[in-house]
Amino acid sequence: MGGAVAETPDFCQPPPSPRMLPFTSCLPGSLLLWAFLLLLLGAASSQDPEEPDSYTECTDGYEWDADSQHCRDVNECLTIPEACKGEMKCINHYGGYLCLPRSAAVINDLHGEGPPPPVPPAQHPNPCPPGYEPDEQESCVDVDECTQALHDCRPSQDCHNLPGSYQCTCPDGYRKIGPECVDIDECRYRYCQHRCVNLPGSFRCQCEPGFQLGPNNRSCVDVNECDMGAPCEQRCFNSYGTFLCRCNQGYELHRDGFSCSDIDECSYSSYLCQYRCVNEPGRFSCHCPQGYQLLATRLCQDIDECETGAHQCSEAQTCVNFHGGYRCVDTNRCVEPYVQVSDNRCLCPASNPLCREQPSSIVHRYMSITSERSVPADVFQIQATSVYPGAYNAFQIRAGNTQGDFYIRQINNVSAMLVLARPVTGPREYVLDLEMVTMNSLMSYRASSVLRLTVFVGAYTF
Ligand SMILES: *[C@@H]1O[C@H](CO)[C@@H](O)[C@H](O)[C@H]1NC(C)=O
Ligand SMILES: *[C@@H]1O[C@H](CO)[C@@H](O)[C@H](O)[C@H]1NC(C)=O
Repeated sequence: MGGAVAETPDFCQPPPSPRMLPFTSCLPGSLLLWAFLLLLLGAASSQDPEEPDSYTECTDGYEWDADSQHCRDVNECLTIPEACKGEMKCINHYGGYLCLPRSAAVINDLHGEGPPPPVPPAQHPNPCPPGYEPDEQESCVDVDECTQALHDCRPSQDCHNLPGSYQCTCPDGYRKIGPECVDIDECRYRYCQHRCVNLPGSFRCQCEPGFQLGPNNRSCVDVNECDMGAPCEQRCFNSYGTFLCRCNQGYELHRDGFSCSDIDECSYSSYLCQYRCVNEPGRFSCHCPQGYQLLATRLCQDIDECETGAHQCSEAQTCVNFHGGYRCVDTNRCVEPYVQVSDNRCLCPASNPLCREQPSSIVHRYMSITSERSVPADVFQIQATSVYPGAYNAFQIRAGNTQGDFYIRQINNVSAMLVLARPVTGPREYVLDLEMVTMNSLMSYRASSVLRLTVFVGAYTF
């Protein structure tokens, strides 16, 4: 069979695959040569040629020979300038050509000048170039060396199939060091603003708490925790990288840093309020006892019920205000044998024998003091209303001072001061008869008049 083929070296024969030729390869010379041999044998062992009636066109690598009326192989090594580059030598072949290393041993008759080598009958040689194999239609198709485990890529490498060949490459993020692909530590290149985590084949930036990755996935931007539901009970303040909880006035931040608890201002100081401090959520207020009203925020001021009209005194009564309250007194306080001569003055007529040993007049006065006054304290000044030449006035407490809480300090002939001698605590009241005895220098005249002073002591020190 081989002999028959060899006698007609330039007959028209369809190439194994128009697509496979011409081709070049960079495989080692010996391997290529062996592959070529298979190709050559495969081509030579094709079906016996059938000579068609005429040819008007030849396939790639062949040209029409009008003399023989056949398609004839083109010697590309002669027609293509620099068909093989560098150290490769060009070898013509049916329908194509080969480039082989110059050192490769070449079977003598590659140009169809002599008989091709005999075909070992037991073998099923691959008629296709390296990296190709024939399919059922006898055309050469690429071998996927990667899926068929025909490659020698390392486990660390990716195998990429190529037409007729394959390639071992490193995956993204890996770099070839020696024979192996090694992960690139991108974190060494300061890609991240805060923290970098190297991953096999890649990296990831991370941010410190309170920050989040920016749109470029590398820089870190502050998180406004306040907008994101920071657990502040009352007020939240965002700051760079964190946030702070604050409390409204009157509240203090709990140790947990988030919740606010009411401040008991009243426990801080007893001076916050003059009378009573009442703690309220977030604030405090001062209260005053009955009969008082709040002055500004902390002081208590006596309400003058007689002025405000809040009193219940009748027409026949006079309203007397004192610290924390008021008193209704009868307008006519004169008791027999005294007769009323003016609003608060009672007179004992000299014509009445009952008046002989009595003070000639009693004048009613009212005053109010607070509890716990520091002593001695001048509380009331008595003044003679009429001054007689050569007269001498003496003052004394005639009644109402059983416990000696008061004394009289004479100022001069016509006046004296009532002095509180001991601190007293209300509520209580004294009715003091302050007597003024008027004498002339000859002691031939003696007259007594009384100032009946009601002293109300309020319950409080204010
Ligand atoms: C950032 O990362 C996200 C999620 O991995 C990704 O969808 C996005 O494209 C990245 N942006 C940039 C600028 O790389
Ligand atoms: C007190 O009265 C006496 C007797 O009338 C008189 O001599 C004396 O000047 C008076 N003293 C004063 C301070 O008024």
